[in-house]
Amino acid sequence: MSSIDYSEKIPNNVNLSEDRALQRALEHWQPNYLQWWQDMGPDGSQNFDVYLRTAISTTPEGWAHFGHVKMPDYRWGIFLAAQEEGRQVNFGEHKGEAAWQDVPGEHRANLRRIIVTQGDTEPASVEQQRHLGLTAPSQYDLRNLFQINVEEGRHLWAMVYLLHKYFGRDGREEAEAMLHRHSGSQDNPRILEAFNEETPDWLAFYMFTYFTDRDGKFQLCALAESGFDPLSRTCRFMLTEEAHHMFVGESGVSRTIQRTAEIMKQHGIEDPEQVRQHGVIDLQTIQRYLNFHFSVTIDLFGADQSSNAATFYSAGLKGRYEETKRADDHALKGDHYKILEVKDGKLVEKEVPMLNALNEVLRDDYIKDSIAGINRWNKVLEKAGLSFRLQAPHKAFNRHIGSFAGMRVSPDGRMISETEWQGKVRNWLPSEEDRAYVASLMGRVVEPGKMANWIAPPAIGINRQSVDFEYVRFN
Ligand SMILES: [Fe+2]
Ligand SMILES: [Fe+2]
Repeated sequence: MSSIDYSEKIPNNVNLSEDRALQRALEHWQPNYLQWWQDMGPDGSQNFDVYLRTAISTTPEGWAHFGHVKMPDYRWGIFLAAQEEGRQVNFGEHKGEAAWQDVPGEHRANLRRIIVTQGDTEPASVEQQRHLGLTAPSQYDLRNLFQINVEEGRHLWAMVYLLHKYFGRDGREEAEAMLHRHSGSQDNPRILEAFNEETPDWLAFYMFTYFTDRDGKFQLCALAESGFDPLSRTCRFMLTEEAHHMFVGESGVSRTIQRTAEIMKQHGIEDPEQVRQHGVIDLQTIQRYLNFHFSVTIDLFGADQSSNAATFYSAGLKGRYEETKRADDHALKGDHYKILEVKDGKLVEKEVPMLNALNEVLRDDYIKDSIAGINRWNKVLEKAGLSFRLQAPHKAFNRHIGSFAGMRVSPDGRMISETEWQGKVRNWLPSEEDRAYVASLMGRVVEPGKMANWIAPPAIGINRQSVDFEYVRFN
């Protein structure tokens, strides 16, 4: 089951050739997908040979092959992690039943919604990143961008396979609609707000892959626990690919900080204006980008109290992060969880039924994981002997979803007036001027091993190649 058949039009490890109707339906969707890639995928990249990894197996050992590929010829396929013998539904009201190999009728609408919502984010991020290739700070980075792009395309395939196989005509219509919604479109936008934001520059790209791909990790982890076994298996394999996306984000921000710290030490300067005169990104601007991406991304977890979240859990459709590692009854009835609410102009804790707070539970797990990486960034500053530290803003800061939506909260968690917000927002979120400054640094660097001035080289190359390896052949 784990070996992938590349002789087929659509590479897969799901015995696609044994289900002719499904194969035909997907082969019908394939040219539409390729057309979408041409129209909305990476700008001006059609002729490049890119050093990409391609999945060849779904077992952890040696799952990927590396080689130069023209991106439109990349073999997008359908790869599910191996079926676990005797797997059960591990939480909710169906706990202990055999995991479902088909969609239970009563959960069909909810499952479809979950799969469509996840699927929609995948092509959205490709669209958001489509112009970045024109301003890549190095070949190494350009290759990483394209690697992420082709894999997000494959994640769309992963969700489209489930829609086609298990949801009949509705599923096929949803798969078509995935190619028609577009990030940032006025009349047909992507489903979730963070996926309609622009990713205008490489600092935004690294922040996006650090924070927003990490949202992907947590959503996929929760869906990998699903009682619907094909969803679980597909998400488990997607997570293998996702790790690299977050690595690109974390190391990208880290290299940006490192370069800035070098300049600050070298010239003995701290003032952001002076730092900018050396063509690197001041730490204050990095903090404002962090605040923006963090706050926009935690909105993705949804309202802090949600009856849908309770339903998805009780029905066995979407679990918690690391559900099966937790030592509780996995039903959560009668359990409570602390969320924040506003009382008398202050943020105070309040206990609510755990089942209704599962979005908040997942968000809090996400925040913990995010902060660990911010601490690693701070190690770079510490090592350089600088006192500046980056920080995650308070979780009520700049929120648009949930009970903090529309409230004015400072990054340190104080409820503030509209006047104070307006007076200080330029210190807290990237201003037009910040974005224009960062944009002014973005220029394309294409010689192997060379880096743009604002970023340090990576510690090592990809797949044990050197940093100055020719990752992209432009032809
Ligand atoms: Fe993805
Ligand atoms: Fe990703």
